[in-house]
Amino acid sequence: MAILFAANWKMHHGPEQAATFARAFKELTFPQPTRSIWFFPPATSIRTLALELDERPDVAIGAQDVHWEPSGAYTGALSIPLAQEAGATVALVGHSERRHLFGETDEETGRKVAALLDGGMRPLLCVGELADQRERGETEAVVRRQLDAGLAGVAEEDLPRVVIAYEPVWAIGTGKNATPDDAASVHAFLRSLVVDRGGPEDIAILYGGSVKPGNVLSFLVEDEIDGVLVGGASLTPESWTEIVGVGGGAAA
Ligand code: PGA
Repeated sequence: MAILFAANWKMHHGPEQAATFARAFKELTFPQPTRSIWFFPPATSIRTLALELDERPDVAIGAQDVHWEPSGAYTGALSIPLAQEAGATVALVGHSERRHLFGETDEETGRKVAALLDGGMRPLLCVGELADQRERGETEAVVRRQLDAGLAGVAEEDLPRVVIAYEPVWAIGTGKNATPDDAASVHAFLRSLVVDRGGPEDIAILYGGSVKPGNVLSFLVEDEIDGVLVGGASLTPESWTEIVGVGGGAAA
């Protein structure tokens, strides 16, 4: 299975910066069968990136969040059809910033995952525990609850289209990361839960939280870790190219 590299740009890079980034990225990399690259730009840059990277079979563009309703009076929200029309084929769901800064509930993540699959998009469902939950030994209970809620409305035959990211909240944007070993053991636990639901053993499970060029390989050498979800270190073409370069296609 190809390694999946996902870039979460959060609230950075409008259309002009996204276009400049995409042009540099195209010069620095070329498609490799050994890796897939997903970009999650701000909503206003989805279209630009989708057009700029249209000829890259290894690239998909995603939304950072979606609403489960296809249309209606939901000021500020992005529907799945609108994201698709802009060029998105994948979407993040339940990123820790949505959960902890914007109050997204477990139940809402489930609705979003189900609606994305119904609409023909692939969800990247994020789960992860807070620092105090880890200290209390609750990591498995927390990620189990988040996974169960996120997948509550997913039919068994749709599970292969779901991607999961394990992102310990205390490791996001902090420069701290779980050790590759710790992450791998949570990944193995998540994988067992997916298999219990009738899902595939080879479901893609990404690690996220302060991944950078200097440590990405230490995660990817773990069998349990199928890719990475990267925030800060995905923001410059140089750093991002270095990261995806470990997936086979070094700079051209
Ligand atoms: P970080 O963010 O790489 O900056 O820690 C990861 C994420 O929020 O997905």
